[in-house]
Amino acid sequence: MDQADQLRKLVSKHTKVRKVSRVITVTSGKGGVGKSTLSVNLAISLARLGKRVIILDADFGLANIEVMLGIRPQYNLADLMFRGKDLKDIITPGPENIGFISGGSGIQELSRLTRDQVIYLVSKLYELDEMADVIIVDTGAGIADSVLEFLSASNEVLIVATLEPTSITDAYALLKTLNRKSDFSKDSTVIRMVANRVKNSEEGEGLYRQLSLVVDKFLGIGMEYLGDIPQDQNSSKAIMAQEPLMISYPGSAASKSIAKIAQKIAQAEPAASSGSGITQLFNRWMKSIYKKNKKEN
Ligand SMILES: Nc1ncnc2c1ncn2[C@@H]1O[C@H](COP(=O)(O)OP(=O)(O)O)[C@@H](O)[C@H]1O
Ligand SMILES: [Mg+2]
Repeated sequence: MDQADQLRKLVSKHTKVRKVSRVITVTSGKGGVGKSTLSVNLAISLARLGKRVIILDADFGLANIEVMLGIRPQYNLADLMFRGKDLKDIITPGPENIGFISGGSGIQELSRLTRDQVIYLVSKLYELDEMADVIIVDTGAGIADSVLEFLSASNEVLIVATLEPTSITDAYALLKTLNRKSDFSKDSTVIRMVANRVKNSEEGEGLYRQLSLVVDKFLGIGMEYLGDIPQDQNSSKAIMAQEPLMISYPGSAASKSIAKIAQKIAQAEPAASSGSGITQLFNRWMKSIYKKNKKEN
């Protein structure tokens, strides 16, 4: 039995007897559309609905989540991967019982791991499925390899778009590239959209119609609509104050909309019966790394 077989056995053993957490990957075509704002406040809303939530900050370019929470994590994913830290060491406690993991340089390293390192990482991440009901992955924008790897491995993708024309075309381009990836499966992935920074709900619905029409017509992907978040100046005030909007301005229009979106997500059935969870995500990822390695050798 080679290492891959061993790992598959380990994964199937664990996923059969243990519950797995939902992994929701938040992404966008263009940067600066509100992914991190949504990730943090969605996490708090879901926590208020009784879920145990952990955010994985996979946008290695910017230290977004930690800035928004005003907390500096001591360790990150790279410390787990290379420096012998345990999962509990790299989960930083946030407000209202949410936890977050800073990707740090670990996210970039992920696509370069050797087989042994992936096996080690997956074995460590098993525990995450036990610790969280929902894991929210806040990705960087656009078509970077690491972002696409996350997206093609997740069951639930949440696209944030705004009315800026480039936000729409870039979101379409992202889905088009994702759709071409051999390890992406339309059938086991739910793609949902949130319209951010709109004037009113008609504007949000219009944006959804515009994007979902082309996504359906040219990619054959049915996209669900989760609703809109209005343009709200409290959003930037909360960032300045380094406290999530949901906590500092719970009655604001944006907070109320995000709470509604959280409710819809909580009610939605997990996307696929074929298993989800963070280890499943890394398991799929590992397969694609093997494929890539084979091609290169
Ligand atoms: N609904 C909103 N209303 C007003 N400003 C917003 C809204 N959502 C996000 N922003 C602002 O947009 C900027 C980018 O948001 P951020 O969440 O960091 O985006 P991303 O993670 O996609 O790069 C921030 O300054 C934030 O305050
Ligand atoms: Mg961000």
